[in-house]
Amino acid sequence: MPGTHVFVFQICLSLVRLLHYLAHSPLGSVTLLDFRPRQFVIVDGELKVTDLDDASIEESSCTSNSDCFMEFPARNFTLPCSVEGRCQNMNEKRNLYNAYRFFFTYLLPHSAPPSLRPLLDKIVNATGELHWGIDETAAQLERVLNLYKSGEYLQNTTRISKSEYRRVPEAFIPDENYRCWPSYHHKGCLLSVFDINEAIEICDSYSQCKAFVLTNQTTWTGRQLVFFKAASNHIMPDPDKITYVKVTD
Ligand SMILES: *[C@@H]1O[C@H](CO)[C@@H](O)[C@H](O)[C@H]1NC(C)=O
Ligand SMILES: *[C@@H]1O[C@H](CO)[C@@H](O)[C@H](O)[C@H]1NC(C)=O
Ligand SMILES: *[C@@H]1O[C@H](CO)[C@@H](O)[C@H](O)[C@H]1NC(C)=O
Ligand SMILES: *[C@@H]1O[C@H](CO)[C@@H](O)[C@H](O)[C@H]1NC(C)=O
Repeated sequence: MPGTHVFVFQICLSLVRLLHYLAHSPLGSVTLLDFRPRQFVIVDGELKVTDLDDASIEESSCTSNSDCFMEFPARNFTLPCSVEGRCQNMNEKRNLYNAYRFFFTYLLPHSAPPSLRPLLDKIVNATGELHWGIDETAAQLERVLNLYKSGEYLQNTTRISKSEYRRVPEAFIPDENYRCWPSYHHKGCLLSVFDINEAIEICDSYSQCKAFVLTNQTTWTGRQLVFFKAASNHIMPDPDKITYVKVTD
């Protein structure tokens, strides 16, 4: 499976949407008792729970805050006891902390371009500290998705190209691959970009990159897939692709 930042982001977003649904389910707020990653499967890019038997809708009853104690291996939390004698949002918060410790802490920081990293770090921190509920967490992650899809995250980066590129329409480079991470392809460097300028920016920043090929394919967020190449010795005709060759360094 190709390791890609978009794919990883999709998993986290899908998990947050699932937890949002569980927190507002018609039965009440549902907590998943077994949160290990094997409890989840990915169907059409969406995360699903394999076994809802391992779920509970009981919110614990309490007489004081100390009854609302949540214990995790690395961290404990005490939630407020409501006047109705229920631990407030305990199911939702237990799901969120589990999402943090099993998924977000590993995945989120690697799931987006560097300019979005501060926003993701904030989300990881807020879930790890249980500062936010699921509604706020979901809203923040959807905001990152919108910045990503709209290309707005590029606005804060300086975009002066160091190199010049020669455009070769209807052409591609079949070989001359190099590896990069995160790539959509295990042999070559296949990345998604918002536009041609982002492709130029990426090629400028890799010394191996001597050319790139725009494909007519897009990812689930509508970003265009681009092959980055280590040389341009063999260029072949292809009506659906456009090759850009670095001419100055
Ligand atoms: C969490 O609480 C348990 C039980 O009181 C205690 O043994 C453990 O040391 C606490 N863990 C942390 C990280 O505070
Ligand atoms: C969140 O950020 C604060 C301040 O930087 C830090 O002390 C804390 O350890 C962080 N918590 C987590 C769970 O990353
Ligand atoms: C870009 O910079 C502006 C102003 O500094 C800031 O408000 C905005 O959140 C930044 N956008 C991103 C995606 O970092
Ligand atoms: C890309 O080009 C191929 C070959 O002409 C075509 O079959 C396919 O529909 C195109 N895909 C898109 C997304 O335009």
